[in-house]
Amino acid sequence: MRHFLDTVDLSRNELARVLELATQRQESLGWPLADYGVALIFEKPSNRTRQSMEMAVVQLGGHPIFTRGEEVGFDVRETVEDITRIMAGYHAMIAARVFSHTVLERMASSNAVPIINMLSDKSHPLQSLADVLTMREEFGSLKGKTVAWIGDYNNVARSLAEACALEGAHLRLGCPSGYGASDDELARVTALGAPSVQQVTSAEKAAVGAHAVHTDVFVSMGQEAETERRKHDFAGFQVDEALMSVADRNAIFMHCLPAHRGLEVSGEVIDGPASRVERQAHNRMHAARGLLAFLCEVNDITKGDTK
Ligand code: CP
Ligand code: NVA
Repeated sequence: MRHFLDTVDLSRNELARVLELATQRQESLGWPLADYGVALIFEKPSNRTRQSMEMAVVQLGGHPIFTRGEEVGFDVRETVEDITRIMAGYHAMIAARVFSHTVLERMASSNAVPIINMLSDKSHPLQSLADVLTMREEFGSLKGKTVAWIGDYNNVARSLAEACALEGAHLRLGCPSGYGASDDELARVTALGAPSVQQVTSAEKAAVGAHAVHTDVFVSMGQEAETERRKHDFAGFQVDEALMSVADRNAIFMHCLPAHRGLEVSGEVIDGPASRVERQAHNRMHAARGLLAFLCEVNDITKGDTK
């Protein structure tokens, strides 16, 4: 059974297939999820991920069921394994946004239905699909392009790094000291096929000549207690017009959202001509639809099967 817990659960060719499916609309995809449910469990808030996944399920003929984390209560009301096996009787797939990535791994170990990561402490692979889709629309191909990440090497960064490596892009990480990728992580990403991976503790050095400049919040969900320390430690890592001016002259700005103007990005940049954040957010739905169609394909989930 094929799950999607991390971007690297896809090979390079499979990533290309997902992105190809993401560009197809209902007429060519059919209704592979007709008569099926897809469970969407959220332990944390969401706008884009919930809306885009719900609509992607609908567009493939299925029925999404949103459930708040506390309603199922992983390891509180019942075990992760019991929840997964029971829900698998109602749904073709289960997607979850969790605090701990190990919950997703345990769900997948049940091997009951395909499990999809809708963001964990470790990674955000659905986001990386939309990121690559958006950059491909802009550049045609990512091969040989330079993608800069400014800020925290967090869940979003890790998945983006994997996707960029699979796509053959150069990766530059500009992270404050203590918030970057480990040497092992840099070696892992390099081994995935990135032509180069560089990490520096200067936002400017990371952004020089970059074709796409990405960032995310300084404080991720679950890290609220670290807010003051992080605001201090991330000083100098705002993506502003001065930083964008050292990037390629046609560079685009990207952010998974939600964004904080005046913290990780200036209003001039996120609301300016280089920003692709709206397109990137809207591509979440197309990417989700492509991923769901791919998981139907590889897991032999087809219209008309009964559970
Ligand atoms: N980018 C993203 O995952 O947004 P939400 O938290 O609103 O789903
Ligand atoms: N890094 C952020 C991403 C939100 C979509 C978080 O985990 O809160």
